[in-house]
Amino acid sequence: MAGINQNYLKLPDSYLFSEIAARKRIYLEKNPGATIVNMGIGDVTKPLFKSVTDAMTAAVSEMSDSSTFRGYAPEQGYSFLREAIARNDYAARKCNISADEIFISDGSKSDCANITDIFSNDNIVAICDPVYPVYFDSNVMLGRTIVSMECNESGSFVPELPDKHVDIIYLCYPNNPTGEAITRESLKKWVDYANDNDAVILYDGAYEAYISTPGLPHSIYEIPGADRCAIEFRSFSKSAGFTGTRCAYTVVPKALKRQNVSLRDMWNRRQCTKFNGVPYIVQRGAEAVYSAEGRREQSEVIGYYKRNAAVLLDALKNNGITAYGGVDSPYIWIKLPEKIDSWTAFDMILNRQCIATTPGAGFGKMGEGYIRITAFGKYEEACVAGERIAEVLNI
Ligand code: MLT
Repeated sequence: MAGINQNYLKLPDSYLFSEIAARKRIYLEKNPGATIVNMGIGDVTKPLFKSVTDAMTAAVSEMSDSSTFRGYAPEQGYSFLREAIARNDYAARKCNISADEIFISDGSKSDCANITDIFSNDNIVAICDPVYPVYFDSNVMLGRTIVSMECNESGSFVPELPDKHVDIIYLCYPNNPTGEAITRESLKKWVDYANDNDAVILYDGAYEAYISTPGLPHSIYEIPGADRCAIEFRSFSKSAGFTGTRCAYTVVPKALKRQNVSLRDMWNRRQCTKFNGVPYIVQRGAEAVYSAEGRREQSEVIGYYKRNAAVLLDALKNNGITAYGGVDSPYIWIKLPEKIDSWTAFDMILNRQCIATTPGAGFGKMGEGYIRITAFGKYEEACVAGERIAEVLNI
C-alpha cells in the first residue's frame, strides 16, 4: 500500500483563500444576483499595462514564425529579463546582485514553498504570527519544527529576535497581512542575527512596489551582509498585474553558502530538475515593465491602489476604527472590537455589506481580533467600503 505524507493530516482542512471563496459561493447561492465587493484575497483588478501587452503581442508574433520561434525557456529565465531586473531593481539601489543570481519563476507563492527543497528537514523554522499561510503550511507538509514569532501592535508588527536558535527565518515586508513596513534598523538586526547564527532569511518582498515612505529598505540586499544570509522573493503579481499571468523571481546570491555549499547552485539544480521555465511571451511582458512607458503605467496603477488604501484608511479612522498598514502596502489590518472574533466579523461584513474581507485568524493565532482588507478594488468601492465596514464593527 502506498503510504501518504502524514504531515498533511496536520494541516487545516482547506487553504485560507479556498475557505473564503467557498463562503462567498454559499452567500451568492443564497443571494442570487448580489455582487460581492472583493477585499479578501489580494488579487489585482487593473489590466496588464499596454506596454506589457504590446511586448507580449510582439512575442506571440515571434512564436508564430519558424525563424524566431522558441521552445523550452531556460530554467533560470531569459537573460534579457534577468539583466533588466539586476539593473533596475538592484544596481539602481546600489545592491550588488548580478543577473545569474536571479531566477525567474511562475510565482513567489510557489518559490516560497519550493525553496524548502534545498534545506534539511531537521532545520528549525521561525515563522511570524500572523503570517501569509504558505510559509507555515509548506513547512508543516515537511514535518519541520516551527517556532512561532509573535507580531503585535506594540512591536509595530515586527517580531523580536528569537530567544533560542533557529535556522530558517521567513520575513515578509511590506508585510502580508498587517500591511506594515520594516525599517532599515530593524532589518539590519535580522541580517546580523542570521549571519551570527548561520541562519538563512527567506525574505518575501512581493509588495516592494508599494513602499513610498522615504528611507525604508526596498530590498534586503540594501543591508550590508545580507548577500551572505538571505534569499529574496519578488513578484510581478501585485507590482504589474501578473496574478493571472504568472511571473516572479527569486534571488540567491553566490556569496550565500551553508556547510560550504552554494545555495545558489542548489536552487539552480532544483529548478533545472523540477521546473521548465516561464513562457517566453510572459518574460517579454515582464521585461516591458522596466521600459520608460512601463514604469509610467506602473506608477499610475500603483498610485491608484494606494489612493484606494488612503481613502479606506481615512474612512476607518474617521469612524473610530483602529487600523494599520495601507501606507506602504495594499493591505489594511483592522482591529476588531473585543466582542467580535474575526470569522464572525467576516460573516457579518459579508452578510450585511456584501464585502469580502479576510479574517485575521486565518493568518495565525495572533491574527485573531483583526480582519484584513485589500486596496486592489475600484476607487468608487473604496470610497464607501471603509464607512460600511465601520458601521458593522461599531455596534
Ligand atoms: C493574499 O491575499 O494574501 C495574496 O493574494 C495571496 C497570494 O499572493 O498568494
